[in-house]
Amino acid sequence: MLNGKTAVVTGGARGIGRAIAYKLAENGANVAVVATRDSEKARETIDNLQKLGVKARLYACDIKSAEEVTSACEEILADFGQVDILVNNAGITRDNILPSLSAMDIDDVIDVNLKGTMFVTKAFIRQFVRKRAGNIINISSVVGLMGNKGQTNYSASKAGIIGFTKSVAREYGRKNIRCNAVAPGYIATDMTGALSDEQRDQIKSQIPLGSLGSPDNVADLVLFLASDSSSYITGEVIKVDGGMYV
Ligand code: NAI
Repeated sequence: MLNGKTAVVTGGARGIGRAIAYKLAENGANVAVVATRDSEKARETIDNLQKLGVKARLYACDIKSAEEVTSACEEILADFGQVDILVNNAGITRDNILPSLSAMDIDDVIDVNLKGTMFVTKAFIRQFVRKRAGNIINISSVVGLMGNKGQTNYSASKAGIIGFTKSVAREYGRKNIRCNAVAPGYIATDMTGALSDEQRDQIKSQIPLGSLGSPDNVADLVLFLASDSSSYITGEVIKVDGGMYV
């Protein structure tokens, strides 16, 4: 389905990003994984991707830094020749009620989730325009649509990603570049691993389908958006949340 294409996945070394990287590779795409650092988990991810028979490489880069993003993206283009699919998945939380959020809690979340997504997209957009083809998939969150107590900084960053997605879709549609957002609900990963059993039961009670989602549930949607099956879809936000926000 994606044979010969190259995908970049930020935060692709674990969790949802890793499931996305595997899914795209299983469908034939070469994958450049952008991760904060060269960890053992990141190495293991690259080994597994290579075992799937595709080209895969790791790029250590903090997406908060515009300079690091520029040089990592140049390196990716030099190594892979071109990029076809960009998945902006890297993200963090620093949850607290508003009065208890430090300036750093606010800056970090906006810098990684929103500005990082913008920096990486900006670094590849000229290349997409030159080849008159590109596919950008941004991982937002259902809380970017519905809001959430204790997550003012995070939900603002994820709502920002939605505005960014729609603007990129409008600015580059004529250049045959699509840009969509995915809004996951609660997905079982390290990010949600810190929840207590009580919190988890409370969350499940709000989800019509009755369980947390898996990284694969998100990856399946990303694969659809990355493929030609979605060729007439752009500027869209698609939820994968078990019906949590209907
Ligand atoms: P995770 O914490 O397991 O993985 C996040 C990834 O982002 C890690 O690989 C990490 O290294 C990378 N990352 C963090 N800061 C970075 C930086 N400054 N530069 C480069 N990479 C960085 O999280 P998870 O659960 O896999 O989340 C992935 C995405 O999905 C995030 O954007 C998250 O906000 C979003 N999401 C997650 C949900 C969940 O329930 N787990 C729900 C809705 C959205």
